[in-house]
Amino acid sequence: MIALLMAATLSAAGFIVVYAIDRIGSQTQLLGLALALCLVFLAAALTIVGQRLVVTEDNEEDYPPPGHPEAQQDLVQIVEESGSRITRKRLLTAAGGTAATALGAAIVTPALSLGPWLDTSSLKHSPWRRGLRLIGSDGLPLFADHVAVGTFYTAFPEHANRDDLASSVVVVRLPTADLRLPAERRAWAPQGILAYSKICTHAGCAIALYRKPTFAPEQPRPALVCPCHYSTFDPARGGKVLFGPAGRPLPQLPLTIGNDGIVRAAGDFSGPVGPSWSSVRRGRAT
Ligand code: FES
Repeated sequence: MIALLMAATLSAAGFIVVYAIDRIGSQTQLLGLALALCLVFLAAALTIVGQRLVVTEDNEEDYPPPGHPEAQQDLVQIVEESGSRITRKRLLTAAGGTAATALGAAIVTPALSLGPWLDTSSLKHSPWRRGLRLIGSDGLPLFADHVAVGTFYTAFPEHANRDDLASSVVVVRLPTADLRLPAERRAWAPQGILAYSKICTHAGCAIALYRKPTFAPEQPRPALVCPCHYSTFDPARGGKVLFGPAGRPLPQLPLTIGNDGIVRAAGDFSGPVGPSWSSVRRGRAT
């Protein structure tokens, strides 16, 4: 039974180790295997406890009076002295407690993925700076003349790490007469070209859908849509949430068009990029 409890402890520890190694292959399957093994070993140990150690019969007759009182005294002394040593019961209790603690630690470990609790500054980092050219997913600069109405583009800042959470933006073009941007952002969409963070403000999926009706009357309006839970954002109104669980607009990137005709950033995003966390609440960060 102690071996089973130790195996459960090792399985739970394995879960924590696999969780900590971020880039391990088949991580999800290994996590499931480790947790399943831990629970199986624990179940087996508890089954043995139930069958062998739990008293299931009542003794209906009193014990006879001791025939050798001095022998009984010796027995009492042995039992008392054994309390100061490692007994089987203590070993079992320690092994059971260790296994339960390891399982508890494995269960709460995924909570670490809720995000950094003390230093959240890395979540606010953005590679976008004024003057940076937008580079398309084909690796070429994005020319304003090539951005067509009704199409959806993905772009990145030049020379930046594309894996950075705040790197990717979606670029769309709308007729300038349709724009309803906040007053302070009127200059952010030259020739009707708009850029928004590609990371959904609900739970961080990539905005991968563009709703662009092609029939008359053109209702509903063009919208950026997240495929995970269908949060829908209005590019004409500064990324405002039209539908879905997202609690705040998509951060907008101000744009400008250089003399060479290439679309460039005119500054940083209008707000924090990525899913909402404790310090970014509805209405406080747009
Ligand atoms: S992650 Fe986009 S709607 Fe949930």
